Amino acid sequence: MNKNLRLLVMAVRLSFRLLSQHRLVTVDINSETFCRHAVAAVTLYRDRIETRAFSSASVKCKENGWGEADPTGPIRRRRSLSPVERISSLMPPHALSPEVQQLIEHRESYQDEESSTEEESRRKEMTLSEEGPPCPTLPGEKLLTYGELLIAERQKKRAQFKKLFRLQAGASLQSSWGTIPHENIAGQPSAQFVKTSLGVPIFIKRASLEDYVLHMKRGPAITYPKDASIMLMMMDINEGDCVLESGSGSGAMSLFLSRSVGSRGSVLSVEVREDHYRRAVQNFKHWRGSWGQRRGEEWPDNVCFHQADLSTASTLLSGRGFHAVALDLVNPQKVLTMVVPHMHPGAVCAVYLANITQVVDMLDGIRCLALPLQCERIVEVPTRVWLVTPARQKDGQYLSRVGSVLEQEASQEDKLSTDESDGEQQLQSPGFGRIPYIARPHPEQMSHTAFLVKLRKYV
Ligand SMILES: C[S@@+](CC[C@H](N)C(=O)[O-])C[C@H]1O[C@@H](n2cnc3c(N)ncnc32)[C@H](O)[C@@H]1O
Repeated sequence: MNKNLRLLVMAVRLSFRLLSQHRLVTVDINSETFCRHAVAAVTLYRDRIETRAFSSASVKCKENGWGEADPTGPIRRRRSLSPVERISSLMPPHALSPEVQQLIEHRESYQDEESSTEEESRRKEMTLSEEGPPCPTLPGEKLLTYGELLIAERQKKRAQFKKLFRLQAGASLQSSWGTIPHENIAGQPSAQFVKTSLGVPIFIKRASLEDYVLHMKRGPAITYPKDASIMLMMMDINEGDCVLESGSGSGAMSLFLSRSVGSRGSVLSVEVREDHYRRAVQNFKHWRGSWGQRRGEEWPDNVCFHQADLSTASTLLSGRGFHAVALDLVNPQKVLTMVVPHMHPGAVCAVYLANITQVVDMLDGIRCLALPLQCERIVEVPTRVWLVTPARQKDGQYLSRVGSVLEQEASQEDKLSTDESDGEQQLQSPGFGRIPYIARPHPEQMSHTAFLVKLRKYV
C-alpha cells in the first residue's frame, strides 16, 4: 500500500468513526474486512479516474474522419458514486479530514471538467439528432409557433368539444371552462393538456388536415374526409399527377388533392359561384400559411382556382389533359361532355352525389350521350363510431367487477396496498382487468353523406 493510499484508508476510517459517533453507521473500523473494503474502494476510485480518461479517448476515437462526433457513439451516463464518495457525502464538511477534503476537491475539479464536456456533447447530440427523440415533437416539426392552426379539445362524458383556432400573440382562448392566454401555448410541444384560468385541463394539438377541413369556415357542404380518401383511392392519384376538380366549394377536396399530387403535380379547381370561389381560395391560403409556420417549409402552391362554369369552360380546358377528375356538383352529366375529352385514356372520374336518384340520372345521361365512360363501382362509405370507456358511477368513481376471481384478487391487493399507505392512488385508478368497460356504438353517428361513383374512360 503506498503512502497516499494509506492516508486515504485512515481518512475513511476517521469518516466512519465520525459517522458512527453520529449513529449513522455501526461498523468495526479496525476489522480486517473493513480495511480490505476501504482499500478496494480507493483502488476502485483511482481506477475509475483512469477508466474515464480512457473512455473519453474512446469517444474521441468514435469521431469520424471529418472531425464530427459519431451520433451512434456511446451515450455517457452519470457515474455512480464510489463507497468513499457516498460516505463522505453524508458527512458535514467540517467533519471531514483534510485528506478526504483534498480528495473531494480533486474529484470536484475533475467532475467540473467532465460535466462541461458532457454538457457540450449533450448539446452536440441535440443538434446532431434534431430529428430524434430529444425534441418533444414529431420529427421535422417545431414547437408550437404563432400563426399555426391548433385544435382545443375537451372530452366530457359522451360529448366532445373541439375548437379550431390560430395561435396569435396577445390573444386568448376563450371557453366556458375558463381562458388560456396564447402565450401559455406558444413554444410548447403539440398534444398536451394546458390548464385554463379555472384550472380545467384542455387538450391542445396541431390541427391535422382532417381537423382543419371539418372545422374551417364553410361556404357549401364539404366532401367529408372519409369520402375524400376513398375518392383519392378510386382515382389512384399519385405524386406528380394533374387533376381536374369541380366545384371548389369550400376547398376541402382541393386540399386533399393538393397533398396527394404534391409539389410536382397540379390541381385545376373550377367553381361557378364567386363567393364559393373566394371561400375556397381563402381556406387554402390559411392552411398553407399555417403549414409554413409548422414545418418551416412551404405547402405546395399547386392548386389553380378558377371561377367559371365547367360546362362551358372549353377555353380553360383547351390543351390540357388530366390523370383524374373529381366532381362534386349537381347534375354532373351536364359537365361530363366537356370534361371527358380532356381525360387521359384509362383515367378515372370520381363523382360525389348525395342522392341515389342523382346517380341514376348521371348514368342515364352517360348512356344517352354515349360517353366513353365505364361505371366500375358505386359505393357508400359508412363509418361507425364506438364508445369504449371505463364504467364510472355518477359521482365519478370507477365501478368494480362483481364476483369475479379478478375482483377478489384485486380487493385483496387493494387492501394490501392501502396498508402500505399508497392505497389512495390504487383505489382511484384500479389496475388492469379490475373494472368493467362500456363498449357500444356511440349514440351520435354521422348520417349518410354521399354515394361515390367510379367512372373510367375507355378507349
Ligand atoms: C358541394 S360543393 C363542393 C364542395 C367541395 N367538394 C369541398 O370539398 O369543399 C358544390 C359546388 O359546385 C359548384 N358548382 C355547381 N355547378 C357548377 C358548375 N357547372 N361549374 C362549376 N362549379 C359548379 C357550386 O357552386 C358549389 O360551390
